[in-house]
Amino acid sequence: MGILENKVALITGTGGGMGRVASLIFAREGAKIIGCDIHTDENEETVELVRRAGGEMTGIAPVDLTEPDQVRQMADDAAKAYGGLDVIYNNAAMQRFGPMPDFSVEDWRATEAGELDIPFFVSKFTWSHLVQRGGGVIINVASEAGMIAGSNPPMVAHTAANAGVIGMTRQLALEGAAHQIRAVAISPGPVLTPASDRDLGENQAIRDAITSKTLLKRFARPEEIVELAAFLASDRASYITGANYAVDGGASAW
Ligand SMILES: NC(=O)c1ccc[n+]([C@@H]2O[C@H](COP(=O)([O-])OP(=O)(O)OC[C@H]3O[C@@H](n4cnc5c(N)ncnc54)[C@H](O)[C@@H]3O)[C@@H](O)[C@H]2O)c1
Repeated sequence: MGILENKVALITGTGGGMGRVASLIFAREGAKIIGCDIHTDENEETVELVRRAGGEMTGIAPVDLTEPDQVRQMADDAAKAYGGLDVIYNNAAMQRFGPMPDFSVEDWRATEAGELDIPFFVSKFTWSHLVQRGGGVIINVASEAGMIAGSNPPMVAHTAANAGVIGMTRQLALEGAAHQIRAVAISPGPVLTPASDRDLGENQAIRDAITSKTLLKRFARPEEIVELAAFLASDRASYITGANYAVDGGASAW
């Protein structure tokens, strides 16, 4: 029996990367999945992969999670899919990078919308469904950039947004406790997804620059982030709330 048996999990950003892996691993552990993304075809591919592996998943796409009205509708539809929600996995994000002082106001706003608005909107509009269920878990994917600065590439908006996600998680934990809602952040270091692997290509110098701050001198595999999320979403983690977990190969340790 999986550790997420009888749980219903809403995972955002399931069109690829860690969201796709999260769908597969959460389904393997017995959860019923609702996965949403702005990209319809990619999201449907994930639904197919989960079903082919024997899991249950419903896709909701396209939805632009930076738009509050769309998030409200998505949250209500997600709660209807399997009769309630137990786990909200705020994985979706979009960010832009660039150096000071030329980093544009537009890029700043797009990054705060893509990294900070999304988990707030999704938490806000799913909150009443968790309360109705008698409690649940919100997992917010932040980043090592919420704890330490980074130069590869320069990331002023990314650092600010992810520090915000870690702070917001503590507040959600505080306000959620009365409703048996736990809130936990995970802060990954560099993770090699199929997309980032393709983008980096054969450029070993850039790969080394990105992983140089980790103690393990390598990228994480998506599974190394998502297996922790599955544990945190489960009842085995019932005393864990308000915490931020670095899964960064030691990058924030020195
Ligand atoms: N990959 C890394 O190295 C790394 C490191 C630290 C933290 N993270 C965080 O982990 C999470 C997942 O990362 P990933 O590398 O798998 O990302 P990704 O870019 O591969 O996937 C993100 C998914 O979210 C979707 N998405 C983006 N904006 C959206 C919107 N407005 N509405 C709906 N869907 C939207 C995308 O379509 C995509 O499918 C993100 O929160 C990211 O910030 C990633």
